[in-house]
Amino acid sequence: MDNYATRPPVPPRLSQGRQHASVGQTLLFILVSVALCGMTIEACLIYRLYQTESVTSASVSKIIAEQKAATATKLRSRVISPSKPVAHLTDGQDVVHAKDIMAWSTDADPLLYKIDYKDRSLVIQKEGYYYVYSKVSFSDNGIFHHRVDLRTEKFTGKSINLLKSRKYSNHFKHPEQSNSYLGGVFHLFKDDAIFVKVSNTSKIVRQDPTENVFGAYMI
Ligand SMILES: *[C@@H]1O[C@H](CO)[C@@H](O)[C@H](O)[C@H]1NC(C)=O
Repeated sequence: MDNYATRPPVPPRLSQGRQHASVGQTLLFILVSVALCGMTIEACLIYRLYQTESVTSASVSKIIAEQKAATATKLRSRVISPSKPVAHLTDGQDVVHAKDIMAWSTDADPLLYKIDYKDRSLVIQKEGYYYVYSKVSFSDNGIFHHRVDLRTEKFTGKSINLLKSRKYSNHFKHPEQSNSYLGGVFHLFKDDAIFVKVSNTSKIVRQDPTENVFGAYMI
């Protein structure tokens, strides 16, 4: 009885425990809130990422389509650009020769890079050393000339002969088909025009467009 009476009052442990519990609850609440917040942000980020990805894949397919179109165009006009000026011309159905100056086809997809084709001539755009060549097929029972001439602004009105070949036929009654090839290196200036001259363009054999060619390339 005495013990009961003298029992100490309720220790403050209980109220302390209550305080601990409420702090724990607050902490838990904060943690849950933070977790929910985090999940929401994550959801937002995932949504945005998905949207960006779908946009990216759309632009990627667009880029691929554009590249395919560009490649197709390039394939038609040769896959890679030459490193230096170059030209190669052939005969073709659209060709109308002058009396003694040969014309070249623009329909036959001529190779022309940094060299122009104008007035039956190749017009140089960039000064430098060029290998110039021409091959013709002809059928003549007389004397046939094949030459490459240069028309330059430095000598107006006068053309300079760069290359020349002459063929004397012995078959006066039955002309034989023959070929002439000319080639050489020349220093050419901007706006220099080179062209192929023959004694008579009606003697040119025109069975195949590749039989008569004219070209130049910078070395
Ligand atoms: C060119 O050749 C044609 C056909 O052989 C001939 O009729 C013409 O007279 C020639 N022209 C010249 C200038 O020799």
